[in-house]
Amino acid sequence: MIIDFCLGTITLKTSESEPESDVDSPADPSPDLYDFPGLTRVHLSAPAINWQPDLQGLETTILRRRSTRSYTGGSITQAQLAQILDFAYHPEHYQAQGLDAAPDYFGLDLIKTFVAISGVQGLEAGCYYYAPQSQELRQIRFKNFRAELHHLSLGQDLGRDAAAVVFQTANLAAAITAHGERAYRYLHLDAGHLGQRLNLAAMQLNLGASGIAGFFDDQVNEVLGIPVDDAVLYLTTLGVPA
Ligand SMILES: Cc1cc2nc3c(=O)[nH]c(=O)nc-3n(C[C@H](O)[C@H](O)[C@H](O)COP(=O)(O)O)c2cc1C
Repeated sequence: MIIDFCLGTITLKTSESEPESDVDSPADPSPDLYDFPGLTRVHLSAPAINWQPDLQGLETTILRRRSTRSYTGGSITQAQLAQILDFAYHPEHYQAQGLDAAPDYFGLDLIKTFVAISGVQGLEAGCYYYAPQSQELRQIRFKNFRAELHHLSLGQDLGRDAAAVVFQTANLAAAITAHGERAYRYLHLDAGHLGQRLNLAAMQLNLGASGIAGFFDDQVNEVLGIPVDDAVLYLTTLGVPA
């Protein structure tokens, strides 16, 4: 059942009264932004995560997945971060293993991703925009944000001790103007879907992951350099489990 759902061979029915989304290509990632000359760019490249024959590893990971409750503060590798982001943002790379290459999203093109790096080998600490199409991290702030992340996540140690924190954001006003008020709800579901893929990939690599929804919304944008018109939807912390 779990694997059938992942494979897309069974789907959840939506109510007939729900309007169809008018987003053209719901699975298309957002266009790459921050394409400025002089910006530090790091191309992420790593082999796809191996989910083992018949996706046995995926089933085991789904069954054993738990939100990590604390991190050591240790570093992860750039290759591990690359694999985690690849699984979340490039489902098409997993078609050969039998996974759905284009899972249903409301509007992935409306979601932007930023990553605060505190402990990733080979990456300077700071805040990066993740360009999903070119699979690049583009550095927009240069600083170790551990202390700020601790504060921004309402004093939760998870934010401080994570090796990386992934932020999904969206311009809610623009999304609602274009697609109606339901966009608010659906964008959060999309962020949850991405968060779950980040979680599963981290678990499969024997790393830790936990979502965080408790954070100071406006301060996150200001501190990390995220556009003020964007609302932060969801945070996923990644790191070495304690
Ligand atoms: C949307 C969402 C927000 C969450 N926010 C936090 C949070 O702010 N702090 C925290 O410690 N855990 C947070 N979690 C993790 C939950 O505590 C955890 O998922 C829950 O206890 C269930 O445990 P499990 O993920 O191991 O099944 C969040 C989880 C989700 C899905």
